[in-house]
Amino acid sequence: MDLFEYQARDMFEAHGVPVLPAAVVTEAGEAAAAAEQVGAASGGVVVVKAQVKTGGRGKAGGVKLAKSPEEAVEAAGAILGMDIKGHTVHRVMVAQGAKIAQEYYFSILLDRANRSLLAMCSKEGGMEIEQLAVERPEALAKVPVDANTGIDDAKATEILETAGFTAEEQPALVPVLKQLWDVYAGEDATLVEVNPLVKTEDGAVIALDGKVTLDGNAEFRHADHAALEDKDATDPLEAAAKEKDLNYVKLDGSVGIIGNGAGLVMSTLDVVAYAGEEFPGSPKPANFLDIGGGASAEVMSNGLHIILGDEQVKSVFVNVFGGITSCDAVANGIVGALKNLGDAATKPLVVRLDGNNVEEGRQILADFGHPLVTIEETMDGAARRAAELAAAAN
Ligand SMILES: Nc1ncnc2c1ncn2[C@@H]1O[C@H](COP(=O)(O)OP(=O)(O)O)[C@@H](O)[C@H]1O
Ligand SMILES: [Mg+2]
Repeated sequence: MDLFEYQARDMFEAHGVPVLPAAVVTEAGEAAAAAEQVGAASGGVVVVKAQVKTGGRGKAGGVKLAKSPEEAVEAAGAILGMDIKGHTVHRVMVAQGAKIAQEYYFSILLDRANRSLLAMCSKEGGMEIEQLAVERPEALAKVPVDANTGIDDAKATEILETAGFTAEEQPALVPVLKQLWDVYAGEDATLVEVNPLVKTEDGAVIALDGKVTLDGNAEFRHADHAALEDKDATDPLEAAAKEKDLNYVKLDGSVGIIGNGAGLVMSTLDVVAYAGEEFPGSPKPANFLDIGGGASAEVMSNGLHIILGDEQVKSVFVNVFGGITSCDAVANGIVGALKNLGDAATKPLVVRLDGNNVEEGRQILADFGHPLVTIEETMDGAARRAAELAAAAN
């Protein structure tokens, strides 16, 4: 999960990273009081910043200087509602204005290719780092970081030296790099990026912008991270699926997909996309949904409920390979789900069962005789049938 700048700022503050006073507002009018409060120590100078999860806000006009509460309201009015790289601005952060002497770059990230953590640092911050990496790669220091020792005094010094900081410049930066490591490790992040990390005219080091990506696999260790989720941006079906502990990803097509096991579901998506090409409108998968090993009636009906709630879905393909949970149990799950759903089951269902107790499973479905259910023997045949039904419904 990526955080907004203001959330990263708060997280930095909680770990002792120096940041500037700031307040978030959603209405331009509220920027006046915010500017008065956060600008008190900077002669009334504040910076109004678009809160969207994309970089380059400054260049896009999403970061504006304001020298009075009136100017802050004007800036907030101009930025709120703005579209920055496809992201609509719903909030702005009013931050104290900094007198910047130098802009640096610093980040810690997961370097998957090298199976290591990596710190990147440059004396030339502010600009987009991708551009710096291409144009002046020698100006960007890359230093591997051992996850067990992290960034201590020695590692911080190594990073700063590699980036070309002088012995006089290093002492002010070492504690900040260590605090940012504390954010990375303590919050289970996969990215902590500060661009720019600034030195002010009076020599203070401050994180002026922050980008943090949290590792979803570590959610269970951080009950407080759930509150950071941007509920407005989450697809409502994905949110509902998450609540039911289902592995669901919404896609753009019209054939709903349910399967057991991520690998089977992935290949089902391919087979359906391929089969769809034969039919008008080329129906495509509407989602990824893996109900996992124990396809109980409850899990099956939760899954069907989510998929049938998707208006784009015209047909559903249930593709199950019976293993530890055998086909008869799955078939009972489907029957139970259809009973639970009652009149809510309104779209044709193509079921392919294979594996343990397949005959028993097919028999259970045949005996149930639901008018919307078709049983197919092969995965290809079922994919074609589901695509055909979706095409016919358009
Ligand atoms: N609080 C601030 N005080 C003074 N200047 C700022 C402040 N915040 C940002 N800036 C300036 O605006 C530039 C862009 O802001 P930043 O937060 O990095 O947004 P982005 O990276 O999305 O463009 C910074 O490089 C800095 O020069
Ligand atoms: Mg920035």
